[in-house]
Amino acid sequence: MFITLEGSEGAGKSTLIESLKKYFLNNNIEFIFTKEPGATEEGAELRKLLLDKTIELDPISETFLLLADRIEHVKKIINPALEENKNVLSDRYLDSTYAYQGAGRKINKDELDKFIKPLNFPEPDLTIYLDLPVEEGLMRAKGRDKLDRFEEEEIDFFERIRDSYLKLAQEDKHRIFTIDSTISEAEVFELAKDCIEKKLNES
Ligand code: TYD
Repeated sequence: MFITLEGSEGAGKSTLIESLKKYFLNNNIEFIFTKEPGATEEGAELRKLLLDKTIELDPISETFLLLADRIEHVKKIINPALEENKNVLSDRYLDSTYAYQGAGRKINKDELDKFIKPLNFPEPDLTIYLDLPVEEGLMRAKGRDKLDRFEEEEIDFFERIRDSYLKLAQEDKHRIFTIDSTISEAEVFELAKDCIEKKLNES
């Protein structure tokens, strides 16, 4: 089972992941938790470049760095785990590229598809998208630590990203389960956990 978690800045992905880790551990459900960018040793180097705000990147170069990270991630972590029928949960994956580089950086979808489709990345069985109004997410994210290259962007960038996620979720209701992240952390966890367990029981 391949599950991905998506959301924009401050939507509560990290908190949800911590709760899911504890829950799966206590219930003997084996899951490999991973993330993008930067899950592999090679990817960690790419992540440094991607988040470094002293570096200016063309949107296409940014996309290629993210795709290089994904190639390493899929080849070294995701595919080997799926081949052994293990459960994988990735914090961000393909939808992030369509939302951030597509809508955020304004690379049109056909062009992105031209880069992405030939790479044959595995499709997630389920994607949980945490949705939060942009202002609220940025307030939460800014309270944390130093801003990275993405977090420094203008509010319009994040509005485009949210709209794009909502559109992706609308177009692929079967795969993407949207959770309104303005509810409590405990409620977000319950909804996500129930949805994942249902999917696990189906398979
Ligand atoms: P990270 O610190 O992991 O942030 P978050 O907690 O929001 O996941 O930084 C990852 C950043 O990379 C995040 O701002 C989104 C961005 N990103 C893309 O722009 N495109 C992508 O395809 C991926 C995987 C991430």
